[in-house]
Amino acid sequence: ADGDADEGEGVFKKCKSCHMVGEGAKSRVGPPLNNIFGQTAGTQEGYKYSNALVEAGEEGLVWTPETIDQYLEKPRAFVKGTKMSFAGLRKEEDRADLIAYLLQFSPD
Ligand code: HEM
Repeated sequence: ADGDADEGEGVFKKCKSCHMVGEGAKSRVGPPLNNIFGQTAGTQEGYKYSNALVEAGEEGLVWTPETIDQYLEKPRAFVKGTKMSFAGLRKEEDRADLIAYLLQFSPD
């Protein structure tokens, strides 16, 4: 199901306490989310990840609409030991809208 990026901007409010996206985005509690699609998990320079997320990347976890969907549904079930203390987005539609929003910051 294709998400609605405008709705996703609203859903992103739940992420903003920890993440920035867009021009000038920097690390906060969590890493910035520009160009996140296609990135190997846990590999942005200058951000100190949990060992769990670094190992997940080493084992081949790459962020795609599918893997971000699974991570956001239940972060600590999808990556055991992740330090992202976010309960998760249970509604599939919210996740789809949010992913559509984030895709705008990952040009091709
Ligand atoms: C990591 C997305 C909410 C804190 C990540 C990563 C993504 C992500 C994609 C992996 C980044 C990478 O591998 O470079 C989101 C989205 C959120 C959200 C879309 C909202 C739905 C939050 C919140 C917090 C948070 C609310 C703080 C309470 C973190 C931290 C990490 C992280 C600390 C690093 C995890 C680790 O090293 O294990 N997030 N996040 N996130 N996020 Fe979030």
